[in-house]
Amino acid sequence: MSKLDIRIEPATQSAPAVLPDPLGFGRHFTARMFTQHYTAGRGWHDAVIGPYQPLALDPAAQVFHCGQMVFDGTKAYSRPDGNLNLFRVEKNAERFNRSASRLAMPEVGIDEHVQAISELVKLEHGWAPKQEGAALYIRPMMIAVENTLEVRASRSFLHYIILSPVAPYFAGGFKPVSVLVSADYVRTVRGGTGEAKTPGNYAGSLAGTEEAIAAGYQQVLWLDAVERRYVDEVGAMNIAFVYAGKHIRTPMLSGAILPGVTRDSLLKLAPDLGYAVGEDRIDIHEVMRDLEAGKITEAFGMGTGAVVAPVGRLGYQGRDYTFASGEPGPVACKLFKSLTDIQYGRVPDPYGWTRLVEVAAAKARLAAARV
Ligand SMILES: Cc1ncc(COP(=O)(O)O)c(C=O)c1O
Repeated sequence: MSKLDIRIEPATQSAPAVLPDPLGFGRHFTARMFTQHYTAGRGWHDAVIGPYQPLALDPAAQVFHCGQMVFDGTKAYSRPDGNLNLFRVEKNAERFNRSASRLAMPEVGIDEHVQAISELVKLEHGWAPKQEGAALYIRPMMIAVENTLEVRASRSFLHYIILSPVAPYFAGGFKPVSVLVSADYVRTVRGGTGEAKTPGNYAGSLAGTEEAIAAGYQQVLWLDAVERRYVDEVGAMNIAFVYAGKHIRTPMLSGAILPGVTRDSLLKLAPDLGYAVGEDRIDIHEVMRDLEAGKITEAFGMGTGAVVAPVGRLGYQGRDYTFASGEPGPVACKLFKSLTDIQYGRVPDPYGWTRLVEVAAAKARLAAARV
């Protein structure tokens, strides 16, 4: 494993004794951040963990007018033993690199990226929330920083990582969400940038999302951009439908959908819990018919933020289907519990998905030094 030489600068602020309450999602940031620079011909250099601070960017930096930028999201989970778990962080780093390649940006070293995350999380462990469903969210970014108005790939980049202590993504916690199928807008198209995690995909989704919220829904379900009938994904989540309480069906990765780490994990976990899983093209008309016929017993979103988000209501072309119980379904509950138990280290991890960040001993030493 290659090792990055990271210069560690002192933080200007220490972790608060008590974290802000309510925590919200992505509203508070820890005291330090990781940065490193890329210059064509030289590669990545000047890796630093230093104080969290505003970026000084030239107004002509390419990120502002070409939108050449990618990001990702993963979490560190507080374990019962006082240590932290990173979850499938290498898989996340691989997606970060695939996103970068799609946007004509340089890749980062997977080992170096994971090392930067591990060291930053270790230094900032005091910000990791302990309460149920909360976590330390990790947001890696890469942006184009060459100053030119030419439309071409930048020759210099900034890679940085920030951390945010977060509550569950939806303020209601593990409660059903309402989803509107967008008939007017599409998110991305095959051959476009849909399978990359790049802000343009999200910027393009905001108008439709605002309209859905104004119409009384929380999230938008996007259909494919070509035929406008096949289910792609929901907001910042992949989507799954449960047939007869035992068969989990999710859209196959089409090139327009983000390949979610949570989706991949649940597709591996579900068969071990006795569920059948299938990936195919899912026609929204068929979904509405199967809902009304009672064949679909549950639907849920899958993503790092909410982990599993049960769907309580699905609207399409003026038809609204509401799941009768108003509560998360049994499959969503079982998957949520099984996956979060692994993420939080409450049960052994048979899949090798978690990576331990040891902080308990350091915390005990700090506590002893204070008395
Ligand atoms: C558009 C989109 N789809 C799906 C997901 C779920 O991906 P993951 O499970 O890796 O968080 C996300 C979140 O990153 C997303 O932004």
